[in-house]
Amino acid sequence: MSSPLSSTDAAIVRSRQMAQSLAEHPERHRMLTGDRPTGDLHLGHYLGSLRSRVALQDQGVESFVLIADYQVITDRESIGNLREKTFSLLADYLAAGLDPARSTLFTHSAVPALNQLMVPFLALVTQGELQRNPTVKDELGASGRPLSGLLLTYPVHQAADILFCKADVVPVGRDQLPHLEQTRVIARRFNARFAQGTPVFPEPTALVNDQQLVLGLDGQKMSKSRGNTVRLAASADETAALIRRARTDADPVITYEPDRRPEIANLLTIASGFTGTDPADLAAQVGGAGARALKELVTEAVNEGLRDHRERRRGYAADPAQLHAVLRAGNAAAFAVAEATLAEVRAVMSMDY
Ligand code: TRP
Repeated sequence: MSSPLSSTDAAIVRSRQMAQSLAEHPERHRMLTGDRPTGDLHLGHYLGSLRSRVALQDQGVESFVLIADYQVITDRESIGNLREKTFSLLADYLAAGLDPARSTLFTHSAVPALNQLMVPFLALVTQGELQRNPTVKDELGASGRPLSGLLLTYPVHQAADILFCKADVVPVGRDQLPHLEQTRVIARRFNARFAQGTPVFPEPTALVNDQQLVLGLDGQKMSKSRGNTVRLAASADETAALIRRARTDADPVITYEPDRRPEIANLLTIASGFTGTDPADLAAQVGGAGARALKELVTEAVNEGLRDHRERRRGYAADPAQLHAVLRAGNAAAFAVAEATLAEVRAVMSMDY
C-alpha cells in the first residue's frame, strides 16, 4: 500500500503535471502571479521567478502579473515609499521582457471588483484554517506586531487575486503553497455552496519553482534587509564590489560541494544561472585559481547576464509617463475582467438585481 501523500507532495505532483501541460498546450492555460512592492527586485527574483514568467508568456500562456500593493500593509505599519517601489517593480517587469501587449500588469488596489470577491470568500473559510496557515504564522512572528485582521485574512484576499481572472496556474515559491491550498478550498466551496451546478472558479495549480534556491552573498537567506543581494538595478561596479565582499571559505581550491562548502556552491549556482554552464564545470574551470578568480567569474556572469535588462530598465526608469501609461492600461484590463467575474458571481448568488 502506498503511503498517503502530504498536501505539499500532492502539490508538487500537480505542479509537474501542469508544467507538462503548459509545454504541450500553452493556449489552454491562464497564469497569474505577482509580488509585493516592498523592495527592489534582486538577482534571486530574476533567476527564481522573473525569467520563468517571461518564458511562460513567450510560450503563449495568457498572463496576469500583479503588483500586490495592499499586501504591503499586511505585516508592516506604514506604506513606505509604495509608489516608488511599485514603479520600480514595473520597470523590472518590463525590462525582463513582460510585454504589456501579452501580459496584464496591474495593481490590485485599482480593481474594486477583485476586492469585492473577498466578501463571499470570507464566508467560506474558518477561523481555524486562517490561524493554522504556517506562512501567516511566520509573517506574524517576524512582524513583531499584533495580528491584524488583514494579516489573518490576506490569504483570502490572495484567493481573490487569483480567482478574479480564473487563473488555473500560479507560479510561486514553496512558502506560498498554503495560500494556494486555501485558494483551491475557496474555489471548491464556492462552486459547491453558492454556484449550484454551474461552477464559476477553477481550482488553480501552483507551479512550484524547482530551481535551486539562490542564497545571499553571505550564505544566508537572500533578502534586501540583510544587504546580501545584488539588486537588478545595481550598476556593474556596485555588483563587482558586492561580489568581492561575498563570503567564501579557507580552502584555496574551488570545488562544487553544496553540503560542505555552501558559500562557494552558491556563488557557482549564481554564475551557472546566468551562463547555463553546470556549476561543477565552472568549479573545475576555476580550480586552483581560488576564490578571487571565482568572484571575477561570477561578477562577469552577472554583469553580462543582466546587461540588457539593466539598459532597458534605465530607459523605463527615465520615462515615468510611459510606466504610468502601462500601469493604467493594465489596471483597466484587469478592471474589466474582474467586473465580468463579479457579474457571474452575483448571478449565481441571486444578487444580480
Ligand atoms: N504573497 C505573494 C508574495 O508575498 C505575492 C502575491 C500576492 C501573489 N497575490 C498573489 C502571488 C497571487 C501569487 C498569486 O510573494
